[in-house]
Amino acid sequence: MTRIAIVTGSSSGIGYETSLSLARNGFKTYATMRNLDKSKMINEIKDKEKLPIQILELDVDYEQSVNQTIKHIIDEEKKIDVLINNAGYDLAGSLEEISIDELKAQFETNFFGVVRAIKGVLPIMREQNYGIIVNVSSVGGKVGIPLNSAYIASKFAMEGLSDSIRPELQEFGIKVILIEPGVVRSSFFENVKMAKNFSPDSPYSSLTQKIFTGFTSSMGDTASSPKEVAQTILSAIIDDNKEIRYVVGKDANSILENRKNMSDKDFDGWMKESLIDQKGFVR
Ligand SMILES: NC(=O)c1ccc[n+]([C@@H]2O[C@H](COP(=O)([O-])OP(=O)(O)OC[C@H]3O[C@@H](n4cnc5c(N)ncnc54)[C@H](OP(=O)(O)O)[C@@H]3O)[C@@H](O)[C@H]2O)c1
Repeated sequence: MTRIAIVTGSSSGIGYETSLSLARNGFKTYATMRNLDKSKMINEIKDKEKLPIQILELDVDYEQSVNQTIKHIIDEEKKIDVLINNAGYDLAGSLEEISIDELKAQFETNFFGVVRAIKGVLPIMREQNYGIIVNVSSVGGKVGIPLNSAYIASKFAMEGLSDSIRPELQEFGIKVILIEPGVVRSSFFENVKMAKNFSPDSPYSSLTQKIFTGFTSSMGDTASSPKEVAQTILSAIIDDNKEIRYVVGKDANSILENRKNMSDKDFDGWMKESLIDQKGFVR
């Protein structure tokens, strides 16, 4: 029986590669995106390789968009095996400069968007007594990063939600998995939204500069490619002995290893040295 997968945010990066990887491995994949004008590349590959991909519009910020698209897929397929919650972006800036509206918008996409999609698939997954929900979190779902408090809070929320619903859904055969990449070479950093109140003469501008330089320098050896994350997602889905969390990247592994082995205070110092003093996450 063909397995049916839905991916959010398939227009670029991890979502794009995950949609292709699932389709190349036999999943009928609904590659969803909020702006269908961005579907040209995936459409071309789909046609060239004759992949089982359907591209549909889905903006995770809107309940109607999520529900309509999921209903369309259920009407067509009568089942959904896998949901990949991938859509997301980073709102950067000091907490002082981030407005409440910007913070709410960050949660609208990164947290409530995930909730909407999960609520959309749960009735059918429960009925079919099977389902895999993959939430693309981040190493930032486990550790704080300065000037990224909004993004980090949204990923911590995703982690808490995932760990809470996993036991809730176990008896219905539904698995909930978290993917925790470090820095990934996608368009993510180009798509960062800066807090509107941030300006070059902000009191946080020197720290902002250091953080951006810290991330840019870690884009070298230690960052992963979107393909590597997509490969991890595929392996996680087909893994019979599923883990709860899959960490991707040398940087993420180093950060989480240190998080486990250090006191809170020592870890704060290590993160400062890694990012602000630019010693790197892998030393
Ligand atoms: N890159 C990293 O370093 C990194 C590290 C850890 C975790 N992640 C996570 O990985 C996921 C994918 O990011 P990426 O690296 O692939 O970045 P990306 O290339 O910027 O892709 C983000 C995707 O999310 C989509 N998106 C944003 N808001 C949306 C909305 N309201 N509804 C539907 N789609 C929306 C974007 O669509 P548009 O093209 O229309 O904007 C795009 O397809 C995110 O959840 C991110 O937090 C990334």
